[in-house]
Amino acid sequence: MFDNGALLVSRAVSETKKLVIGVLGSGRGSNFAAIADAIENGSLNAQVGIVLSDVEDSGILQRAATHGCRHQFIDPGKFRTKLDDEAEAAYIRSMREAKVDVIVLAGFMRILKGGFLREFPNRVLNIHPSLLPSFPGLAAWKQALEYGVKVTGCTVHIVDQGIDTGPILGQQAVAIAPGDTSESLHTRIQEQEHRLAVEILKRLAADEIQIG
Ligand code: GRF
Repeated sequence: MFDNGALLVSRAVSETKKLVIGVLGSGRGSNFAAIADAIENGSLNAQVGIVLSDVEDSGILQRAATHGCRHQFIDPGKFRTKLDDEAEAAYIRSMREAKVDVIVLAGFMRILKGGFLREFPNRVLNIHPSLLPSFPGLAAWKQALEYGVKVTGCTVHIVDQGIDTGPILGQQAVAIAPGDTSESLHTRIQEQEHRLAVEILKRLAADEIQIG
């Protein structure tokens, strides 16, 4: 009786400790899948609160369904590169309802404005495919290849009002091999993104990094 009680209490404690992750994405969702896999195999003590996308038929929403995670398409509104005010309010509401502790931008192709960021101060993380501050912006692996650097990589950072700026939480270097194409380089960077994103979330879940 006493043992069962103790077990119940410790389960309740570990449940409350779980980091609740919100995910925003527009594309394939391979980073989301790496996070979901790590949760499922028990290496990441967290749960996915919700996956939101601005693209109705995106891979990330399909993968969320496969992993049994709550997911939702929210119409981004009338702009091409940002959310309009109504959409921004809907994204905020949905993240709030899911009680997320941290939000991961896993290939979300819109700029988040101050309104969203103020709702979740220092709690929005981005995965970027270069060693910032080098090569911010789109297709960063292509920029690195075209520039001719010998080493690039990926970065996980806290999102601020700038484009791919904000405090860096972790980076992983990837060497550019002779004969690398844009595709081969991107594939190797993405493998490291998956590892790095999970690593940073594990450290957040274990309170080894404090944000917010
Ligand atoms: C990643 O390469 C990330 O660096 C960038 O968007 C891409 C998303 O890929 N921000 P996926 O949708 O996670 O496969």
